[in-house]
Amino acid sequence: MRQTLVVGNWKMNGSRASVAHLLGEILEAIPASGAEVAVCPSYVHLAQAIELCAGSAVAVGAQDCSRMPAGAYTGEVSADMLVDQGCRWVILGHSERRQYHAESDALIAEKLSAAVAAGLQVIVCVGETREQRESGEAEAVVAGQLRGALQGQENLAGLVVAYEPVWAIGTGLTASPEQAQAMHAFIRACLSGLAGVDADATRVLYGGSVKAGNANQLFAQQDIDGALVGGAALDAGEFLAIVGAGAA
Ligand code: PGA
Repeated sequence: MRQTLVVGNWKMNGSRASVAHLLGEILEAIPASGAEVAVCPSYVHLAQAIELCAGSAVAVGAQDCSRMPAGAYTGEVSADMLVDQGCRWVILGHSERRQYHAESDALIAEKLSAAVAAGLQVIVCVGETREQRESGEAEAVVAGQLRGALQGQENLAGLVVAYEPVWAIGTGLTASPEQAQAMHAFIRACLSGLAGVDADATRVLYGGSVKAGNANQLFAQQDIDGALVGGAALDAGEFLAIVGAGAA
């Protein structure tokens, strides 16, 4: 039985005031049991979020980390620094990192090794573009991203994969529950072919315009084990409703 996981990816949004307000609303109403919950604010809001969430059912994660442990890498943040702050999670390979920062599967694999070595729980994102889906390449792209990031990794216990079709992120378009389920089942089959991965135990999250109104249907699918939520995670009511759908 895989516990549903709902993760808020706040992207480059927020201020000290809005973080305090949003987390205040979330923490006031978060159920003590049900779905596992994490929020991923920007680096500069991590310490504030960790302090606010201390002792609560909400864990805190980062949206990226460096592949390097320490040193002369201006602007980078290491996995050890995240752990030292109190972070439990890190998102790696988000399509916005792949697109705007030219992150390759090889770089994501290096970041994954660094994050695992530091003791972070990792969410690796995969997903095809609209053109790739329309030309029938969606499965090949996702399989390549999984292999590229995961093959040869030493310790993938507790790994989480997020399937985020690029055409559904922030667009209001969502993969239908059936489309998402088909890709999630495919991802689980790919995982079962990789050494060191327990495919049955690995949670596969869906991401891309998840909101209160579609979470129930998505979570009802056999291989959808939760959600990576962008826009709707900035609205406490929406986010709490998605978390609630994960408890059902
Ligand atoms: P969205 O973003 O929910 O705003 O589509 C999801 C994500 O990018 O993780």
